Amino acid sequence: MDKRAIVIEDAAAFLSSWLDGRRPVVGIILGSGLGELANEIEDAITIPYIMVPGFPAATAVGHKGNFICGTLGGKCVLAMQGRYHYYEGYPMDTVVLPIRVMIKLGIKYLLVSNAAGAMNKSFSIGDLMLIRDHINLLPNPLIGPNLDDFGPRFPDMTCAYDLELQDRMLSIAARQGIRLQRGIYVSCTGPTYETPAEYAFYRAIGGDDVGMSVTPEVIVARHAGIRVLGMSVITDVAHEAGDGYVTDENEIVRQADLASKKMTGLFRELISTL
Ligand code: HPA
Repeated sequence: MDKRAIVIEDAAAFLSSWLDGRRPVVGIILGSGLGELANEIEDAITIPYIMVPGFPAATAVGHKGNFICGTLGGKCVLAMQGRYHYYEGYPMDTVVLPIRVMIKLGIKYLLVSNAAGAMNKSFSIGDLMLIRDHINLLPNPLIGPNLDDFGPRFPDMTCAYDLELQDRMLSIAARQGIRLQRGIYVSCTGPTYETPAEYAFYRAIGGDDVGMSVTPEVIVARHAGIRVLGMSVITDVAHEAGDGYVTDENEIVRQADLASKKMTGLFRELISTL
């Protein structure tokens, strides 16, 4: 058996015993912008990542490291409070391990959130952007022997972000009176923020915003046929050298927190329709 498959099996068996018969249908990655959602999960069981066999402790700023399982919008959800980032030095197999464990546990949907910088000049700080496609500039997490139990060697990526879920989210946002941008997310390794030339390059290749996560998780979910919805909080915007603007991680976390209520309301209502 593939070593990765053994780690996934062990972690899933451990979590399953903690979940005590609960069967999560929706996996949620509470990146920056969805922190508040954790407080709204009812009958919650919290399991720190460090307790789970094969899981290291998460270290990124603004990110905790817990699974939270409970009820939200009437559905059994399994939320990741914090994620593993490639820039932290974890191998890709670790970055996507929690997603594969959630897949083993039977989720059918994955909802992903993140903080991002905007290249699109019509976006403002505090906007939410529904991800309609991505450009993955991180190493592909499916490199290496294929895990055939999860999906095919060469997965289709035509509709990485589920069209029906996007339509539903757009209607929900319209009903709630929340402005929702749509766009293409570019993922980079980080941990540096972009130079002005890099922002210009990502804009030129068709990107609307840029961040350091999301795509590995989405690729692994789509490999296994999980339906995905992704949303960014725009926490900063592209800028020019000498314009006095500095990209600052504390300000990014602050902006993500400010958007948390808006994003949480959208996700809660979407989940209730699943
Ligand atoms: N670039 C990359 N990652 C980010 C940014 C950014 O501007 N903002 C939040 N995460």
